[in-house]
Amino acid sequence: MLFMDIKSEIRRRRTFAIISHPDAGKTTLTEKLLLFGGAIQTAGAVRSNKIRKTTTSDFMEIEKQRGISVSTSVMAFDYNDVRVNILDTPGHKDFAEDTYRTLSAVDSVILVVDCVKGVEEQTRKLMEVCRMRNTPVMIFVNKMDREGIYPYDLLDELEQELKITVCPYTWPIGNGKQFKGVYNLHKKEVQIFAPDKTSISESLISTKDLKDLKLREYVGTESINKLWEEIDFVNDMFESFNMSLYHEGYLAPLFFGSALNNFGVLELLETFLEIAPCPGPIQASERTVEPDEEQLTGFIFKIHANLDPKHHDRIAFMRISSGRFERNKFYFHTRSEKKMRFSSPTSFMANNKSIVEEAYPGDVVGLYDSGNFKIGDTLTEGELLHFKGVPSFSPEILREVNNLDPMKTKQLDKGVRQMTDEGVAQLFVQQPGNRKIIGTVGELQYEVIKFRLEHEYGARCSFSHLPFIKACWITTENKKELEEFLKRKSGAIAYDKEHNPVFFAESEWMLKLARENFPSLTFHNTSDFKTGKIKKGIIYSK
Ligand code: G4P
Repeated sequence: MLFMDIKSEIRRRRTFAIISHPDAGKTTLTEKLLLFGGAIQTAGAVRSNKIRKTTTSDFMEIEKQRGISVSTSVMAFDYNDVRVNILDTPGHKDFAEDTYRTLSAVDSVILVVDCVKGVEEQTRKLMEVCRMRNTPVMIFVNKMDREGIYPYDLLDELEQELKITVCPYTWPIGNGKQFKGVYNLHKKEVQIFAPDKTSISESLISTKDLKDLKLREYVGTESINKLWEEIDFVNDMFESFNMSLYHEGYLAPLFFGSALNNFGVLELLETFLEIAPCPGPIQASERTVEPDEEQLTGFIFKIHANLDPKHHDRIAFMRISSGRFERNKFYFHTRSEKKMRFSSPTSFMANNKSIVEEAYPGDVVGLYDSGNFKIGDTLTEGELLHFKGVPSFSPEILREVNNLDPMKTKQLDKGVRQMTDEGVAQLFVQQPGNRKIIGTVGELQYEVIKFRLEHEYGARCSFSHLPFIKACWITTENKKELEEFLKRKSGAIAYDKEHNPVFFAESEWMLKLARENFPSLTFHNTSDFKTGKIKKGIIYSK
């Protein structure tokens, strides 16, 4: 009986993230999906969570935002009996690593691209992460109300740069100032919405007939005639939709629109609910975990420190991989091999936090934690299982921590350890002298760490620059060569929290040299080296 329940709960869940290069319209689109989904009534909720175009000195602002962003970490709502879980990802590039980790907890993504700017740096990087995991991707080309790259050229650019085949699901009616809405190539219909920044109303026009007089009048005869031609061309030229290729991550259904103006958003939402995958199997180091297994398994992909500086309690976000989660039941924390019970696990329905009695695969529950959890931890009902795929990425900025108050060494150590457990940054220790080196992918993290150490742990520190550009994990079968390398490069070697050796490269050239001189060593850009293999993106063609 329970088994059946779990299966139907899994089938009705869609857990995903919206990702983009900053400013492409991720926040606007998220809000519009919540509006169309009936989860909120006016826009503004997600926007307030945004870290605005920050400079390094804006960490005060970030502190303020941290509180708000707990409630938007997961935005769940029910639409047509589908439970939608949108996992929020930070927009600021310095927090890209949080985004990568969140991607380990979703079953698919919607990638937002600005039609004026096309593929940007973060678009490329995020897509690489999706390819590593074969995450199904839908693309939303936003800001079609602006004069952007010509749609065919943009599709070419997306295929070439993102190494994925695209399949238009909708097509724009007019461009730039003349953009009026989209044609749904699959339903063969048009639904026109009134442009409105903060709310939505019923569609103005809804028709399958392109000769519809009202439509012609609204859109203009020229745009309609052009649309006729383009539909023919698109049907001939582009890949038709194939569900398994989409689910395997080779084919991306593509939507045009303007999130700000409500154009193309409903088409995206409805198609997404229809075709996006429900929670599937998740790979653990020991075995593949099927979502409909009776026993609960889940992993922590994000930890949020509490805003109250006097209490170090935190919220750990757990993605449920299998079984049914129940409040007050004992679960097994596989890293510490201890049992844990949660009396007030939290669910996040749109913007309301509430205590949840049970949750299912695909759901995210917030677990109050006083410092037991680390990113990547697994909970089970007793099985010794470890989920993989929450990698740490090669930090590109490395700085040594200097303790400015020797009386507070313990507090400093604790703060640094806890913040790095939360995934704010990575900690490496170099010998001799137990030197603490913090690695990040962005400058902003150092400001955050300094500020939080002072306010939450009462410790003060400064950071000294180190002349390295990258930290790479090292693996090899050749122990002797590794020992030789560690000895020769001792000034540039440190150890991560799991005591894995890491090489700090001073330049790409030094890294190349190390690879040449020590051919049996492998230098990795992510800590996922034991399990994750980067699969080359394959362009599928007819
Ligand atoms: P992000 O989360 O990806 O960083 O992007 P966000 O939604 O904040 O959008 C970035 C800017 O782009 C915002 O303008 C937003 O209003 C605008 N925008 C989003 N969708 C569209 C669209 O469909 N068409 C047009 N023309 N603009 C769009 P802003 O001026 O930076 O912020 P705001 O003052 O409007 O909040």
